[in-house]
Amino acid sequence: MKIETFGVEQWMNAWETKCAYNVAETCVESLTVAELLEMAGMSQEQMAKDLAAKKLTYGWIEGSEKLRSLIAGLYRQQKAENVLTTHGCIGANMLVHRTLVEPGDHVISVIPTYQQHYSIPKSFGADIETLRLLPENGFLPDLSLLKTMIRDNTKLICINNPNNPTGALMPVELLQMICDMAKEVGAWVLCDEVYRGLTQEETYSESVADLYEKGISTGSMSKVFSLAGLRLGWIVANPELIAKILEQRDYDTISVGMLDEYFAEIALSVKDKILERNRDIVRENLKVLDEWVNNEPRVSYVKPKAGTTAFVKVQTELSSYEFCERLVRETGVMFTPGSALHTEGFVRIGYANNIEVLKKGLDLTSEFLKTIP
Ligand SMILES: Cc1ncc(COP(=O)(O)O)c(C=O)c1O
Repeated sequence: MKIETFGVEQWMNAWETKCAYNVAETCVESLTVAELLEMAGMSQEQMAKDLAAKKLTYGWIEGSEKLRSLIAGLYRQQKAENVLTTHGCIGANMLVHRTLVEPGDHVISVIPTYQQHYSIPKSFGADIETLRLLPENGFLPDLSLLKTMIRDNTKLICINNPNNPTGALMPVELLQMICDMAKEVGAWVLCDEVYRGLTQEETYSESVADLYEKGISTGSMSKVFSLAGLRLGWIVANPELIAKILEQRDYDTISVGMLDEYFAEIALSVKDKILERNRDIVRENLKVLDEWVNNEPRVSYVKPKAGTTAFVKVQTELSSYEFCERLVRETGVMFTPGSALHTEGFVRIGYANNIEVLKKGLDLTSEFLKTIP
């Protein structure tokens, strides 16, 4: 199978371990196991005892009932039977595409977004069309344009809410309108919701799984719960689709690791505490970024409403790739070039990590901006 290279992941692979100031990271600052236990009020001795007693079998093939119920609890009206665990949200997205998309199917995806949503269906031979999110629309999808793109045979519409890289947040009314349009032709709506809950203002963001019987939500422990090391994600959808996805999943997952499940259960049992910590981080850190953008004449942005990233326009003669490569080589500061997200003229800043790294990275970027055309 031929597939386009994954722009963002290749950029991360190349620089993540070599940079001094990582302002490209998209997780809210990750938790240590000790921090997680402390938040859950659990002793390290208890954890050691629990882990030592575990017989390392494959565990629950579809995900333990307890874990799937905890995941279902992140939604308004889902049950354990609507949930399937996966290897990260990346595994969840792949499985949904693989289950639904066949050669010749018409698939629509927003862009910019996580590249899986247009490159995977394309690699399967789908007729893929992209709907560009524009700053003049606050990076929200233009529904009149979407309406003209939807055909009788549209199989799948892919959206991402909150959006990576722009930080745009679709309100429930807009999500409902997309679902209604999809319903007219019987299309599925896959919403990558891996940043769901990380809002700047509201405390709740809606899921397509709760709005539409053919709405599919993917998510994970990585960003919102700061536990990317668990590699634990999920798909939430109607049980008939879950059964079909399971047929595919037998070929590449078997089960999610039981140690990952153990820590995910602990985290989800104190989900409100982790969410509170993480909302505080994204809100405090965005203030720092916002002040920088407002005082730096060569940059501008649509201020994010959610998520962990901002898509910043830079006035420069350099391409986004040249800009980011020179920035990281000359100052150690790592951003992500818009070209890695198929959108020239922008850079993506991940602002949800260590605040001191963010401040230093932005200061160094201001110095760097004085030296380039
Ligand atoms: C929109 C989006 N979906 C999925 C993923 C993959 O997340 P995970 O670590 O859960 O596999 C990412 C990671 O950056 C992402 O930004």
